Amino acid sequence: MDKMRITGGFPLSGKIIIGGSKNAALPLMCASLLTDSSVVLANVPHLADITTMANLLSQHGVNVSLEGQDLRDGHIGRVLSLNAGNISNTVAPYDLVRQMRASILVLGPLLARVGEAEVSLPGGCAIGTRPVDLHIQGLEKLGAEVFVQNGYIRATAKKGLVGANIVFPKISVGATENLLLAAVLAEGKTVLENVAKEPEIGDLVNCLMSMGAKIEGKGTDTLTIVGVKKLVGARHTIMPDRIEAGTYAMAAAITCGSIELIGAKQEDMSSTLESLIMAGVSVKKKNENIKIDVPTGRLKSINLGTEPYPGFPTDLQAQFISLMTGADGKSIISETIFENRFMHVPELQRMGANIDVSGGSAVVTGVSHLTGAPVMASDLRASASLVLAGLAAKGETLISRIYHLDRGYERLEEKLANVGADIERVKDET
Ligand code: EPZ
Repeated sequence: MDKMRITGGFPLSGKIIIGGSKNAALPLMCASLLTDSSVVLANVPHLADITTMANLLSQHGVNVSLEGQDLRDGHIGRVLSLNAGNISNTVAPYDLVRQMRASILVLGPLLARVGEAEVSLPGGCAIGTRPVDLHIQGLEKLGAEVFVQNGYIRATAKKGLVGANIVFPKISVGATENLLLAAVLAEGKTVLENVAKEPEIGDLVNCLMSMGAKIEGKGTDTLTIVGVKKLVGARHTIMPDRIEAGTYAMAAAITCGSIELIGAKQEDMSSTLESLIMAGVSVKKKNENIKIDVPTGRLKSINLGTEPYPGFPTDLQAQFISLMTGADGKSIISETIFENRFMHVPELQRMGANIDVSGGSAVVTGVSHLTGAPVMASDLRASASLVLAGLAAKGETLISRIYHLDRGYERLEEKLANVGADIERVKDET
């Protein structure tokens, strides 16, 4: 398994181009199941999770092909064409679903288009138990018959799905997406209340509407969908990855550097940027880009809690904890979305961080500096937090299990090396 070697202590300086959003791309790829015409997605990031989704869709019979590349400011986004003219298989097998939980997003569209789907239960994961009850209950309300048997969700809707009023008891990004992907082809009107408002859902709504779906309420907590008999193909450009942009903003801040994030969308990142400003980071809009600087030496500690959008994203909590390890004073970071998302803390402690976890909160007391150490990544964002810590630490950090990073950060070492980081991937020759 490859490792990442970082020698810390160099302020980053320059420009980083932000790629297409992983968490927008995955449901958008599933939207291709809803039509027999081609859905063409531009600005698709080159990531392990995208490959997993492409493999999953291919085994359902979707023809996935690389149509080309779009060049923007020197950034290469992939253009994928997906054609589900012939859905040959409605089973999403355990081997693929266990690699990536977002595989559950084929359930709604398969059910809506062909009236049946069998999707393996994803199982637990490093950040929490992550049940899928809201997905199942919602689809049942749309008239599907759902059984969980032998580790698989078996769902049928032989006469098609029928619109319904669904109030989510808890905000879920994935359940909102799955129900949206199902309701666009259901008969009649569906009202989804207490939905997630993440910008990635807005991106999905935009694409579905260009495919002919009738959806109102984008960006609010209620989506009203009037089902149509058939959807058509569309061409859609995937939004920039706000979590990648936030991670690099924090990389600039933790190294007291100065980075321009090319193509990052400030409107989607308000809570992240506000938190950085409160900690003493300078954030300026420069044309279509965001410029991050640290005007004074040491950052201030601040308290924050993760929340559904527009609150502070759980996907940046680990990185923010790394940032606070060197800030002046004590900060309390509360995780309210996932119950076990502090796996990075013991690794940061090995690098000299002063962090106490109690219940859902981490109390971080700033130290004068971190020191490099061998550490192990446990999930995607935990890996990113260790990279940030490594960039700031004195000496060498060697991060193992970086396959987690490849799930969500495209060419991370290249992007960071281009702005002055001493970072390299160490290939495992065994
Ligand atoms: C999405 O996961 C993202 N994944 C996650 O990104 C992100 O951390 C998460 O939303 C929260 O923002 C993708 O978009 C592919 P949820 P999702 O359903 O949809 C509970 C990353 O690092 N819940 O909004 O799976 C759940 O356990 C990743 O890029 C239920 O109880 O998250 C959690 O506590 C990891 N029952 C909360 O809701 C359900 O049926 C929010 O989860 C579904 C969810």
